[in-house]
Amino acid sequence: MFDLAQLESGNVSFSQEIVSLKKLFVHLCNQFKLDVENAELDYQWAMDRHLDTGEWLVEVDVQRMEQVMASLISNAIKHTSEGSISIGLALEADRVIFSVADDGAGISKSEINYIFDRFYKENNQQKQQAHGLGLAITKEIIQQHNGKIWAEVKKERGAFLTSLYRFS
Ligand SMILES: Nc1ncnc2c1ncn2[C@@H]1O[C@H](COP(=O)(O)OP(=O)(O)OP(=O)(O)O)[C@@H](O)[C@H]1O
Ligand SMILES: [Mg+2]
Repeated sequence: MFDLAQLESGNVSFSQEIVSLKKLFVHLCNQFKLDVENAELDYQWAMDRHLDTGEWLVEVDVQRMEQVMASLISNAIKHTSEGSISIGLALEADRVIFSVADDGAGISKSEINYIFDRFYKENNQQKQQAHGLGLAITKEIIQQHNGKIWAEVKKERGAFLTSLYRFS
């Protein structure tokens, strides 16, 4: 299992590279297409149309970003029995907003402050299938990129996990 303590202590080296935001997004979306389809869910992704107006770049560790995506997608699949998983990419002033939304039951207001804590998992989840570490590791990775990650409770869409990081 990926070592959260090592990540937190700064002992894990990150190999950051400057990459095309569009290419990264398409790469990440394609990588998990089969997993979502195998779960018999629809998979949708959409990019902000402003992304077509220039060559937008981000500085990331691509492998770590794949890990972030894997964690968010696996959570979305686990909590969604029917409907779709939607990935979005939007541009803001000096940031990009990356979102993973699903049609599952969503996150309750009482849980929202704890889901990024290590070992937090909902009471009724089968213990052997969940370590409660995925989001804690994900948050650590995003923070190493000077980014932020949070969850939103949305009535119409169930859980909505969004991460955000600067682009160069
Ligand atoms: N898409 C989602 N919809 C609803 N609840 C979610 C979603 N993603 C995360 N959660 C809640 O947040 C908790 C923590 O998620 P996290 O990924 O850290 O742990 P896990 O999935 O239970 O275990 P692990 O990722 O280590 O296998 C989950 O147990 C669940 O209660
Ligand atoms: Mg998880």
